[in-house]
Amino acid sequence: MPITNGDVASNGVPLNRDLEKLDWRNALEVLKEYKSRDGLDVHDLLDSKKNGALTYNDFLIQPGYIGFAASEVALDSPITKRISLKTPLLSSPMDTVTEENMAIHMALLGGLGVIHHNCSAEDQADMVRKVKRYENGFISEPLVLSQKTTVAEAKELKDKWGFGGFPVTETGQLKSKLIGIVTTRDIQFHPQPEDLVTEVMSKDLITAPAGTTLLEANEVLRKSRKGKLPIVDKDGNLVSLLSRSDLLKNLNYPLASKLPHSKQLIAAAAIGTRPDDKNRLQKLVEAGLDIVILDSSQGNSLYQIEMVKYIKQTYPDLDVIAGNVVTREQAANLIAAGADGLRIGMGSGSACITQEVMAVGRPQAAAVFSVSSFAARFGVPCIADGGIQNVGHIVKGLAMGASTVMMGGLLAGTTESPGTSFVNREGKLVKAYRGMGSIDAMEDKKAGGGGKDSKASNAGTARYFSEGDRLLVAQGVSGSVLDRGSVTKFVPYLIAGLQHSLQDIGSKSLVELREDVGRGKVRFELRSVSAQAEGNVHGLDSFDKKLYS
Ligand code: IMP
Repeated sequence: MPITNGDVASNGVPLNRDLEKLDWRNALEVLKEYKSRDGLDVHDLLDSKKNGALTYNDFLIQPGYIGFAASEVALDSPITKRISLKTPLLSSPMDTVTEENMAIHMALLGGLGVIHHNCSAEDQADMVRKVKRYENGFISEPLVLSQKTTVAEAKELKDKWGFGGFPVTETGQLKSKLIGIVTTRDIQFHPQPEDLVTEVMSKDLITAPAGTTLLEANEVLRKSRKGKLPIVDKDGNLVSLLSRSDLLKNLNYPLASKLPHSKQLIAAAAIGTRPDDKNRLQKLVEAGLDIVILDSSQGNSLYQIEMVKYIKQTYPDLDVIAGNVVTREQAANLIAAGADGLRIGMGSGSACITQEVMAVGRPQAAAVFSVSSFAARFGVPCIADGGIQNVGHIVKGLAMGASTVMMGGLLAGTTESPGTSFVNREGKLVKAYRGMGSIDAMEDKKAGGGGKDSKASNAGTARYFSEGDRLLVAQGVSGSVLDRGSVTKFVPYLIAGLQHSLQDIGSKSLVELREDVGRGKVRFELRSVSAQAEGNVHGLDSFDKKLYS
């Protein structure tokens, strides 16, 4: 006999004390008698009249049913109307986060790095070109020696870069005739440092022709037992180099972000909305750009709407992501202008003081839900940008409807971000990180000629001031973040964490997660201040928070 609601008190305690009569086999039947599911659906959660505007730490996702392995969880997600990635992770267009090295590695790992524009158009186009020219495993710009290089100089280069095995060409440049290769063994114990490398280099070379695949090159390297394999064109000119040590790790990027039918990595870069940015964009497009992001802290502007229209008309093959926005109304203007994607966030960035100084912005979970549920009606994917401090925040951003998340501070400490690590006053290894609206970034000479007076040409930080501004008003700070090692370890950790989280939630893919949230299957819980304290490590005298190994 199924138990009816009448047999239990409102708190579920059976009124009938005869336990014999309670049939555990009926648990699923009894569950159906409840009028609503446990927890809150996303609309109740984000009802700002009842709960205020929430951000990631204000709520939790309830666990669902695990019926599959974490490794089966698919993380494919669109970044624009036309382009999808295998990993929903992006790095911010900031000068302490994304230059070509980060862009290449984020793309290899299935995400995307958006190249910053706090530099000349030429430098930015050069970075885009390097991403597009990057071939998995092939060093497209190797260090090349000239015939006039001495053994001492070669030794110095080896010490500086930490690797040996330099090709020597007629002109000392790439695309010139290869005449030899200098290995560490050739120079290590050579008694006359002033001798030219041509006297010690190996001239008996094993090379491979341009167009050789990684697998073929691997085979040649294996048979030759050499450390380096120069790739040459039909005239014997050096075009790239393959290193045995790089090879094995580089064979393994099955998630790499590429357009269908293309072998090249996807390249994305940011620009502003000034007239000059049209010239910049032209250079980026010539370099092979696939996605452009209009970088503005308040994207709902005449300038941005016109820029979106201009880009769609001038470069129909280029996808344009507009933003930043945090409300439906802002989003509607950009969607109607033709944006292929939106970037959401205002004031949530870790190095950001916009909310404090400008009094505008929106807590990130509320912003992501509001904008992405509206944009979804037009098939426009959204990026949850800023405020991501851990894997849990990534999951929450995606559960709120974003297709991808963008990170600045979380990736700034990795090896692939620009700059080098240094030891701070407390003896910790750190890397510089600064908001693009910090005084430091706005005054940076890299941006086009020097200091305050040149701010009009200070491209990358244009999102934080207007043409006629006499005074720089900071919207960001400048500081440092802890060193995190390579993204080649950190991003796989984020991916694995994401898969485990979706497994706990019971959604087998990001598509399923968004659907399950929409139809109320995925449930949420508000988190009081003490619930937040409970959810963090507490009561320990000391602990070591190692996140992955
Ligand atoms: P994070 O991942 O929390 O560090 O946030 C990164 C995001 O902060 C970037 O993608 C930008 O949208 C935003 N941002 C970058 N610089 C500034 C700034 O100076 N003020 C406000 N927001 C910024």
